[in-house]
Amino acid sequence: MCGIVGYIGKKPAFPILLSGLKRLEYRGYDSFGFFVFDKEKPFLFKKVGKISQFEQDFPNPSGEIGIAHTRWATTGEVTEANAHPHFDCQKEIFLVHNGIIENYQALKAKLIKEGHKFTSECDTEVLCHLIEKYFEGNLEEGVRKALREVRGAYGIAVVSKKDPEKIVVARLSSPLLLGIGNDELLVASDPSAVITRTRQVINLDDNEIAVLKPDNFFILKEKPLETIEWEGEKAEKKGYPYFMLKEIMEESEAIENAIRGRLAIEEGSVKLGGLDTIQGKLRKINRLILVACGTASFAARVGEYMLEEYAGIPAEVDIGSEFRYRKPVVDKNTAAIFISQSGETADTLAALREMKKKGILTLGITNVVGSAQARETDAGIYTRLGSEIAVASSKAFIGQLAALAMLTVYLGRQKEMALIMGKRIVSELAKLPDLAREVLKLAPEIEKLAKKYQDYKNFWFIGRKYNFPIASEGALKLKELSYLHAEGTAGGELKHGSLALIDENFPTIAICPSDSVYEKMVSNIEEVKARGGPMIAVATQGNEEIRKLVDDVIYIPKTLEMLTPILSVIPLHLFAYYMAVLLGHDVDRPRNLAKSVTVE
Ligand code: AGP
Repeated sequence: MCGIVGYIGKKPAFPILLSGLKRLEYRGYDSFGFFVFDKEKPFLFKKVGKISQFEQDFPNPSGEIGIAHTRWATTGEVTEANAHPHFDCQKEIFLVHNGIIENYQALKAKLIKEGHKFTSECDTEVLCHLIEKYFEGNLEEGVRKALREVRGAYGIAVVSKKDPEKIVVARLSSPLLLGIGNDELLVASDPSAVITRTRQVINLDDNEIAVLKPDNFFILKEKPLETIEWEGEKAEKKGYPYFMLKEIMEESEAIENAIRGRLAIEEGSVKLGGLDTIQGKLRKINRLILVACGTASFAARVGEYMLEEYAGIPAEVDIGSEFRYRKPVVDKNTAAIFISQSGETADTLAALREMKKKGILTLGITNVVGSAQARETDAGIYTRLGSEIAVASSKAFIGQLAALAMLTVYLGRQKEMALIMGKRIVSELAKLPDLAREVLKLAPEIEKLAKKYQDYKNFWFIGRKYNFPIASEGALKLKELSYLHAEGTAGGELKHGSLALIDENFPTIAICPSDSVYEKMVSNIEEVKARGGPMIAVATQGNEEIRKLVDDVIYIPKTLEMLTPILSVIPLHLFAYYMAVLLGHDVDRPRNLAKSVTVE
């Protein structure tokens, strides 16, 4: 990281910049530089080495506006040419920068094609030429347009001979604050550079541009340009009769999108860029609260099992509409995770704002880029699924489970999870898209099953441990799509009352992969069979024994226990879809429902 400082006021800028820069030198000391507007001749001074080595050489320009920089080299060697401030072709725009311009090579190649002459290898210089390209007399307009093309992190301060009486500053990720003094304004990477002049500071937020003038300043909020990841045609049904079926058939792709570029199999870990800014804070977390609504809350319940068993962090789940009115006992080592496809669900957002008021670290698992949840949480994971149009959620649920599995590895590897376990989970995750494709090939078979069971009016879904929430999700999907009565419970709960409902008219769907609780599920299946209830089982390929116990079996491929929900839910989404079609309902727009519940 580098240090930048700027001054505009009624005093000679150089000595103030010098003292500020010395206080920032801990941030990097490969080289340093100044630019000061001086009536006679603008003063540019850059040196490789520490400030103290050159103090005796410093002239004393009288200008009252200037910027300065101390460098920790990232892009470009430690040379005077790569030292800041950088400038444009006409040496009219001068700029200091703390951060990294990730797409600078592409921008540089384009600018050179357009005739710009570069004098350094430093990524920062592209900013000067971009501003030069867009400068039409107003510096902040030039800066605003230039930054739209930039990807990366920056805290910058810019001055221009053509629009002299101001310093334009901007920030994205890199820290930047304004020092509000008497008849003077400062800008700096941290408070230590301004504290000798003022204690009044304004910390700029991401995407804010401030214009500092001798007698005032104003801040512009630049709304980041966000790219819709999915192509227009994807919003079309692509030949499917309903978005619901299209989105179910995209569930394998959903896993692929969610895990792409995030699995580090050799390290047995995952890369979640969206959490990097809070990595340190996450290490101190010893309790997790997961909050969501509807289908997303069932994903949270699967996450609860994953995080406790594999990341060793106590976790609890609550639904947004309840959590917002609870008085949860939380402390600074608690973090709250909010899961929402739309990122606009009112109950989940209200719970989020409650936790923010209490200063709790908040994470979001969100699909819609730039949604309120994504903006208001401290950090998060995008599920990257493209748009989910059908009201009933399907691929978003799968994306949320994949995100929770990656979060489990991310947090687990920060704590007790061993490399070998991390490798097992991550390499299994990498196989899931193909395994999901295998399950999706069962669609015609599941359509037949829906036909066979279309006359029943009530359905029970049972599952245990990781697949208990899948029983709830299966029931919700059938309810919201087919308007049939359906319940989802833990297999072990049946004998505590609900079993009374079971008879030959009340089919049960048992989600019973060959996992650590399979034997227990078998006893629950026998309880139901004993009451004459028709039964469908979702079981692991190769399990022939189950055929003898139930009427119909849907086989899913074998995978790690914690990942079985990502496969076992797919047949339930298809079953609900085909049942709804058979019953002639508008599958994409079920009655009484809305895609994003933005009201309480
Ligand atoms: C699910 O099929 C429903 N559409 C509903 O339960 C949904 O999951 C819930 O409203 C939460 O929506 P969100 O993920 O956008 O917050």
